[in-house]
Amino acid sequence: MISVADVPALEVSDIQATVLRPRPSSYKGEYVILRVDDRAQGLEMLRRLIPHVAPADDWWVPTLPGWLGIAFTYQGLKALGVPEASLDTFPQEFREGMAARAEILNDVGNNAPANWEYPFGTADMHVALAIYSKDDKSLEMVLDRARQSHHDLPGISVVYRMKFSELPGGRNPFGFRDGLHNPHVEGSGVHIHPGFGPAVKAGEFIMGYPDELGETATSPEPEQLRRNGTFLAFRKFHTRVAEFRKYLREQASSPEEEELIAAKMVGRWRSGAPLVLAPEYDDPKLGADPDRNNTFSYADDMQGLKCPFSSHIRRINPRDALKNDLVAVNLHYFLRRGTNYGPPLPEGVREDDGVERGGVFLLIGAHLRRQFEFVQSQWMTDGNFISHGTEQDPIVNNGENDGVFTIPKRPIRRRLHGLPQFVAVRGGEYCFMPGLQALKWLAGLGAEHR
Ligand code: HEM
Repeated sequence: MISVADVPALEVSDIQATVLRPRPSSYKGEYVILRVDDRAQGLEMLRRLIPHVAPADDWWVPTLPGWLGIAFTYQGLKALGVPEASLDTFPQEFREGMAARAEILNDVGNNAPANWEYPFGTADMHVALAIYSKDDKSLEMVLDRARQSHHDLPGISVVYRMKFSELPGGRNPFGFRDGLHNPHVEGSGVHIHPGFGPAVKAGEFIMGYPDELGETATSPEPEQLRRNGTFLAFRKFHTRVAEFRKYLREQASSPEEEELIAAKMVGRWRSGAPLVLAPEYDDPKLGADPDRNNTFSYADDMQGLKCPFSSHIRRINPRDALKNDLVAVNLHYFLRRGTNYGPPLPEGVREDDGVERGGVFLLIGAHLRRQFEFVQSQWMTDGNFISHGTEQDPIVNNGENDGVFTIPKRPIRRRLHGLPQFVAVRGGEYCFMPGLQALKWLAGLGAEHR
């Protein structure tokens, strides 16, 4: 949907749809990860895939059955034969890969790369495809195109496949409505609801445009490769839903209080209604109203009495809560494309059924280090910026702290203890998602051999 007031100024026909456009609702999709053992075949596969990669200006065309996004790890770029002189200009964190950054990201204990699923954290993850569609039939069509791109190329192997789909009511496995907030990318042409805050400079998310510091990326090189490209952090989580329900039951004296504690942890009620606007009771109409469910300010709650400082959404996007620090907040935004996998745990069940369920996040931005890595290592895992010592995000904590969650309250605050780990990291990797012309540049790398 394009609103007249926000005509695209970005080269949206060159930027991949996955970067700028929200997924359809409802959605069905699959992540496919490929390993390239033969450079020429890798480039051939890429040439065949390019016509099917969706640009951001096209995805809402009703005839489009679904869309394909493509991204490459550092190992993948190497396998395709990107010259050393170019590879060396990629940011260090991307070259090292997510597993090597485990200490910085606090991926320790249960979340350590040693516990990740294959191929995460290995050199076998080269090309990642994200395929989104509105139903199973459309998904099959796009998957078939992906298959055709390499079915006769023995040098290409599928090393991972993972289906995902929307859970009933657009909820995540814990029962919270998700995908409610994303930053407003200046010039993107995306319809903006009130409350998304002022537009953030496109260069924060896409290379080739000025960012919030007024700078335009000068690497990676060459320019043809970086223009309209971006980086993404791929993170797969398993959610321990039974554990979450059990813990709420233990801490609360009534079902109403269970819901309140759950909302205090997230900063929103399960309906999506923000605590700042609905501090005592859920307001499902507010939660479901995209024109209202982001229209709030922490300036009205500087003591955290409505929404705790340590709640997930206040930590991870402090909005105006970090006084006089608005510019700094703008430097840590990224786009969030989340999807869910696995069946929901039936209502009322408090025993773990051993089934894998959770979420996969694509956290997208031009500056992995000061966006995803900063938020993950500071705002999510460190309590100091809110004077909470070693306290972590109550929802996404790594289980390696003392399990405390502070709820400001009068006359005295409430402190929950013994918080278990509700979310376990199953794997992740950094990828580069080029623009469409850049994909052609990559595919042309083999020209001298043809
Ligand atoms: C399984 C793990 C996670 C769960 C269950 C979860 C849950 C949620 C929920 C329920 C919301 C509120 C609804 C919304 O705005 O979409 C939310 C918002 C958000 N989450 Fe998470 N999240 C998870 C992991 C992450 C990770 C890894 C990041 C980034 C490092 C992240 C970043 C955000 C951001 C930026 C928001 C928007 C905050 C706002 O401005 O309101 N989340 N999350």
